Amino acid sequence: MQRLTNKQIILGITGGIAAYKSAELTRLLKTAGADVRVVMTPSATEFITPLTLQALSGNPVHLHLLDAEAEAGMGHIELAKWADLILIAPCSANFMSRLASGHGDDLLTTICLATDAPICLAPAMNQAMWRDSGTQANVETLKNREIKLFGPGIGEQACGDNGPGRMLEPEKITNLTASQFETFALTGKTVFITAGPTREALDPIRYISNHSSGKMGYALAEAAIEAGAKVKLITGPVTLTPPERATTVAIESANEMLEASLLDLSLCDIFIAAAAVADYRPTAIAEHKIKKGTEEIMELHLVKNPDIVATVASSTPKPFTVGFAAETKDVLEYAKSKLERKNLDMIIANDVSRSDIGFNSDENAVTVITHSGSETLPQTSKRKLASLLIEEIATQYKANR
Ligand code: PMT
Repeated sequence: MQRLTNKQIILGITGGIAAYKSAELTRLLKTAGADVRVVMTPSATEFITPLTLQALSGNPVHLHLLDAEAEAGMGHIELAKWADLILIAPCSANFMSRLASGHGDDLLTTICLATDAPICLAPAMNQAMWRDSGTQANVETLKNREIKLFGPGIGEQACGDNGPGRMLEPEKITNLTASQFETFALTGKTVFITAGPTREALDPIRYISNHSSGKMGYALAEAAIEAGAKVKLITGPVTLTPPERATTVAIESANEMLEASLLDLSLCDIFIAAAAVADYRPTAIAEHKIKKGTEEIMELHLVKNPDIVATVASSTPKPFTVGFAAETKDVLEYAKSKLERKNLDMIIANDVSRSDIGFNSDENAVTVITHSGSETLPQTSKRKLASLLIEEIATQYKANR
């Protein structure tokens, strides 16, 4: 089964006998790694209980548009923004009609109106209702609005009829949902990504490090895989689970990160340095724990670490090399000078003086700088940003080859 790691999916359930299959669909989406929030129309609750879907999704089920409690927490606008994709399964003929005419009179229709996320429908209805010219006109309207239809399948129906209108099986819907995230922008390409902090040991139990969580680098690895790339993720110590389809190399120090980056570098098409590498390390690592002395001030002697991304950028053949610039002031100016000094093809500047973006947060805002210009990408989740960055990197990579 294809992966949906960390994807935020709204599963809309409308009224129909196939609603019982939504329980299995929720389970499969969760197993594939998605975070699922279920939104039910009132008639859906006649076919399957919200409690079942709450238990399977691990999240509260959303039922009403005008619910003061829900609006104070995750109301329809938040849900619309939260979603990476909206999947409506089963989608009844009535709901398709209401969606086609732009209704906004219940929770699910308002979420569909307010979202920028792709919307996919798995129709389920009697074969005569599916064939009806009104339904077919709605299908055309929805397709013209780039709403995707998964199915329907053809076969025996709950009412005893035979024909088109069966909801596709949950496994098939899960695979089709996962395939919506695949872009093919980097098919056949090999991408190396560094992520997380390095640790520079002082003694067997102490080290110098920083607050990098690895979230930005791991999100880029996930997005590069979705774009069809083969990914080697070279990661410092973090608490995240690496993407299943990446080859992961766990390192501690900058020297180890350099060694892992240079290994098989000739196979690498694109190198992305998202790691926060310690610029200096202790000149020596004490064999035993450094004991507290009587002196008030302790001096540490540090030596410069190798610059990994600059070393990669000076290699032959040189992969398309992308650095990050973590700055607390004069962000763009410093980033541009790093682009030149390290001989990079692109640098992604982020302001790490802010606590809501940059180090150890779920969101980021960046400016992408190349030798021909720059583009600012506003604050959003690192996952969404990573997809945009990978698309941009793929475009620039192709333009430069
Ligand atoms: O991990 P998160 O919590 O998600 O946070 C993400 C991040 C803020 C760490 C990430 O977005 C980021 O900015 N990474 C680069 C951090 C950094 O070390 O920046 P820098 O300006 O010091 O380095 C410039 C570039 O050189 C970076 O690509 C860095 O990986 C690279 N470098 C730096 C020093 C060194 N010795 N070797 C390197 O390769």
